[in-house]
Amino acid sequence: MSLMIRGGTVVTADQTIQADVYCENGKVVQFGPNLDVPSNAEIIDAGGQYVMPGGIDPHTHMQLPFMGTVASEDFYTGTAAGLAGGTTCIIDFVIPAPQQSLMEAYKQWREWAEKAVSDYSFHVAVTWWDDSVHKDMGTLVHEYGVNSFKHFMAYKGAIMADDEILVNSFTRAWELGALPTVHAENGELVWQLQRKLLAMGITGPEGHPQSRPPEVEGEAANRAIRIAQTLKTPVYLVHVSAREALEAIVRARNEGQRVFGEVLAGHLVIDDSVYLDQDFTKAAAHVMSPPFRPKDHQRDLWHGLQSGNLQTTATDHCCFCADQKAAGKDNFSKIPNGTGGIENRMEVLWNEGVNTGRLTMNEFVRVTSTNTAQIFNMYPNKGTIAEGADADIVVWDPTATKIISAKTHHQNVDYNIFEGMNVTGTASHTISQGKIVFKDGELIVERGAGRYINRPPFAPYFDAVAKMRDRTSPISVKR
Ligand code: URP
Ligand code: ZN
Ligand code: ZN
Repeated sequence: MSLMIRGGTVVTADQTIQADVYCENGKVVQFGPNLDVPSNAEIIDAGGQYVMPGGIDPHTHMQLPFMGTVASEDFYTGTAAGLAGGTTCIIDFVIPAPQQSLMEAYKQWREWAEKAVSDYSFHVAVTWWDDSVHKDMGTLVHEYGVNSFKHFMAYKGAIMADDEILVNSFTRAWELGALPTVHAENGELVWQLQRKLLAMGITGPEGHPQSRPPEVEGEAANRAIRIAQTLKTPVYLVHVSAREALEAIVRARNEGQRVFGEVLAGHLVIDDSVYLDQDFTKAAAHVMSPPFRPKDHQRDLWHGLQSGNLQTTATDHCCFCADQKAAGKDNFSKIPNGTGGIENRMEVLWNEGVNTGRLTMNEFVRVTSTNTAQIFNMYPNKGTIAEGADADIVVWDPTATKIISAKTHHQNVDYNIFEGMNVTGTASHTISQGKIVFKDGELIVERGAGRYINRPPFAPYFDAVAKMRDRTSPISVKR
C-alpha cells in the first residue's frame, strides 16, 4: 500500500516547504520536492493545500461511565469523528472506580478501544491509594506503555484525589519517569457551593458555573503545582480554563518549574453566557467542568497559547445526549459533565488562531500535534512529517468553508457546542497509517484499524529534574 501526496506545502512545527510526501506501509518513507511517483502509488493532489501532521487530541473520554450514565460516543464513532476533522490519534483516560484495581480497569478500557479506527493511547487515573495501586503503576509503566497518570482534584464522593493521594501518586510517578496530570478544581469547595446554591433554590444549569468559579480552579492549580514543586516532579494541567490557573502556571514556569498546560478549543471560544439560555437542553449541553468562563478569560487563554505557557490543545471530548443531560433537570449538580468537539478542534483552532493571526501555521501544528507528541513521548513517530514517522497526516484546504452543525457532524451526540460557527480551513483528506480514511467529506474507515500506542517513560524531563534534585538534597548535620 503506497501513497503519494503531491504538490502541497508541508507545514511542520519548524518548517514550511514545498514538498511531496511518499508513504509506504504506514510510514513516511520519502519527503522532498518533485519525488518520482511509483507506478502503483495512490495519489493525492495537494496543490494549493497544506500537508500537516495529523492532530493529536490528548484528552478524550470515549464511552466513559460517568455520573450514572455512559458517554454516547464510543471508540469507534469517536475516533472516526476525529479523523473527519484531521485528528489521527487520541489519548483517552482509563478511570478506575475507587477500590477498583488499576490493571482491571486498564484491561477493560483496552477491550473497549479495540474498535477504534485511529491510533490511541491511555493515561490512567489514580482515584484511590494502597500498595496495589503503587505496584500497578509500575506494571503499567514497565509493561503496558503508560507514561502519564491522571488525578481528579474534583468530583468529591466519586473519583476525587485528595492531597494524600496526590502526594503518594506524584512520588510514585516520579520514581517511574511518568508524568502526573491533574484536573485542577477544589472538589470540597465545589461540593459546598453546590449545596449552598441548591439550598437557595438555584437548581438550573446557571448554578453550574457559580459552583465552580475561577478561584476554585486557581486554588487547585496552585496546590498541584506546589506539591509537584515540593516533590520536584514535572506536572501537566489538563483543561486550563481560568486566568487564575494560567497565572499559577506562568509563575511556576518563570521560577524554572517544569509545568505544562492544556487548553480546550471550547474554552478558547465559548463564554459562560451559554448557561443563561432559557432552553434547559441548550444550557445543559454546555455543562462541563471546568465550566465556560467570562469572555476576558478567553483572551488570557489565547495569550497563554501564544506565549507558550500553554502548550497543547484538546477537547475533553465526553459526549452526553439531551436525554442523558435531563438527569439534572431539577438539580444542576446531577447533569452529566461533558461536551464534544473532537471533530472540530483543528478547524476551530485554525479559524480562530491562524486566520486571525494569533498563531502562525507552524505554531498551529505545534499546539495541535507536535507538543503533545513530545510531552507524552510519542515523538517523532507522531507529531511531525519526517522520513520514518507514522504516516498520520492531514491535507488541509485553507480556502474551504464550513458551517459547523450537529446536523452534519459525525460525532455521536445530538448537540454541537460550536453550532453555527462558520470556519474557513478544513481537512480535505485525512491519512491514518498511510491510508486515506477521510476524503471530501466521506469517511473510509475500518473498525479496529486503530493501534494502541505504547508511550515509554521519559528520560529527558526526568534527567533534568534529577539533576535539580541532586542540587537540593536534604541537609544532614553530624553532631
Ligand atoms: O466535564 C468534563 N470535563 N467531563 C469529563 C471528565 C473531566 O473532568 O475531564
Ligand atoms: Zn476534567
Ligand atoms: Zn476530561
